[in-house]
Amino acid sequence: MLIEQLVRQNRSYRRFYQDFHVSKENLKYFINLARLSPSARNAQPLKYYIANDKSTCKKIFSTLKWAGYLKDWDGPAQGERPSAYIIMLGDQNIAKNYYCDHGIAAQSILLGAVEKGFGGCIIASVDKEKLREDLNIDPALEILQVIALGKPKETVMIETIKNDDIKYWRDDKKIHHVPKRKLKDIIVNL
Ligand SMILES: Cc1cc2nc3c(=O)[nH]c(=O)nc-3n(C[C@H](O)[C@H](O)[C@H](O)COP(=O)(O)O)c2cc1C
Repeated sequence: MLIEQLVRQNRSYRRFYQDFHVSKENLKYFINLARLSPSARNAQPLKYYIANDKSTCKKIFSTLKWAGYLKDWDGPAQGERPSAYIIMLGDQNIAKNYYCDHGIAAQSILLGAVEKGFGGCIIASVDKEKLREDLNIDPALEILQVIALGKPKETVMIETIKNDDIKYWRDDKKIHHVPKRKLKDIIVNL
């Protein structure tokens, strides 16, 4: 796939075919893409906790908040939940500041997921204390964000932003629409 196709297809997916398994091999492939990505000072402080079993996925799911703009939606229903997760961690023994490493790494992971026919969503709204406790995550590892992964069960469409309204919405066919600013409005010296 060309890079533009990959980036266009790499939307935030929040409903999945829950029974569709994401293998450990796939998760390792995605994390290897993160490993090869840029890192400030080349410190490479990021670590990863992977999950693709039902019991761990259930624990992780209970700590996540979904789609803040969709006020009447509580997140994916049973049967439409992610079948795998990658928890992104910052090793404080290596660095205290992760700059934008975890953003870049997340995009590499998600592009790899799209390439393999999966999709996902970065979730930063996480009950980090509960997650740390439930999964017994070492206190030296700061929980930065979670990537939910699976086989997408929803269509997400890019829209041109209107009236500066950045809020995504879902229509009556459950198609998710994401407004993006125009190119001419984000290049400041055109
Ligand atoms: C750093 C970051 C944190 C995010 N946190 C959440 C979150 O907690 N919950 C959620 O449902 N989506 C979250 N998202 C997804 C955004 O809502 C999504 O990227 C945005 O609506 C644009 O949609 P798109 O990814 O399809 O372009 C996050 C995205 C980023 C980059």
